[in-house]
Amino acid sequence: MTDVANLEGAADGDAVVVFAPGRVNLIGDHTDYAGGLALPMAIPLGTTVRGRPGDDARVVLTSTSQSEPATVDLAVTDPAEVEPGWARYVAGVVHELRPTRGFVGTVDSTLPLGSGLSSSASLEVAVALALGFDGPPRELASLAQRAEQVASGVPCGIMDQLASACGLDGHALLVDFTTLVIEPVPMPPPDEAVVVVVHSGEHRELVGSAYADRRAACERAAAEIGPLHDATPADVARLAEPRWARHVVTENERVRRFASALAAGDLVAAGQEMVASHDSLRTDFAVSTDRLNELVDRLVATPGVFGARLTGAGFGGCVVTLARPGALTEGWTVTAAPGAHRR
Ligand code: GLA
Repeated sequence: MTDVANLEGAADGDAVVVFAPGRVNLIGDHTDYAGGLALPMAIPLGTTVRGRPGDDARVVLTSTSQSEPATVDLAVTDPAEVEPGWARYVAGVVHELRPTRGFVGTVDSTLPLGSGLSSSASLEVAVALALGFDGPPRELASLAQRAEQVASGVPCGIMDQLASACGLDGHALLVDFTTLVIEPVPMPPPDEAVVVVVHSGEHRELVGSAYADRRAACERAAAEIGPLHDATPADVARLAEPRWARHVVTENERVRRFASALAAGDLVAAGQEMVASHDSLRTDFAVSTDRLNELVDRLVATPGVFGARLTGAGFGGCVVTLARPGALTEGWTVTAAPGAHRR
């Protein structure tokens, strides 16, 4: 085993240093909980947890970006009731992992909070690793997803936690959410295209009820026409209210075409799929906002931009673009980064 205390980043006395990345989703939103396809990638921004096991039966974490610490009893019963709000995600992990020892440490995040870059998934994955989770990355993602659900009450899918746990340097992850099979897709060389994330300035409230409504609408559609992973446009046309399933079914196809376009180096075609994806999220799925739409329009009209779309749940947050290097002077350029790891 590595002597973590001697590695870079480990402060004196820290027995554990872990990092879990956030993610940007290139294409395929509101498909994960419907068993569809998406293409997220882990990014270099993320959450670092440092600390050591403690003898008290609780987890105590201070955060560089939060005024109050998270103090969570190992026997916590209702993570959603824990204060302050950010501590609920820590509590969710404790609830799902049930560590036998306490932990004392610090949390440091380089992700902008509430922007659709999975700051909470990155926190959950990092805390689970710090508290001793020891198993395959898919199980880490699944535990972190359950933690998010009990912490927030939002019936989220597994995309964010999966990208954080399974990220691959230089690759986006083509995920089939029915099988959880991940196919790595190499990203274009940085002298040809870069991924730039631009914040809309609108803080994303993951409107829990709106998200849950969308998920329920997809489940009702699947109950009528079968799994949306395999549904055809003709199946969708039989539905009384086809728009929700139509988004998922057409988005799955766009994810496939986008991944093929990237593999073929056809960045123009890839960009067109992003624009079509945004359109579907705006019109059929109704998760965009005026600010996001204006930003996407402006970015798409910028020379050197192949495509742009909202990324993540929507309702505010960030737009992801694929652009020639130097085409944009705003936002963050992000590269595809490795998944969560101990340092
Ligand atoms: C949020 C959820 C994910 C996924 C996206 C939309 O980020 O946590 O599971 O559903 O929204 O694609």
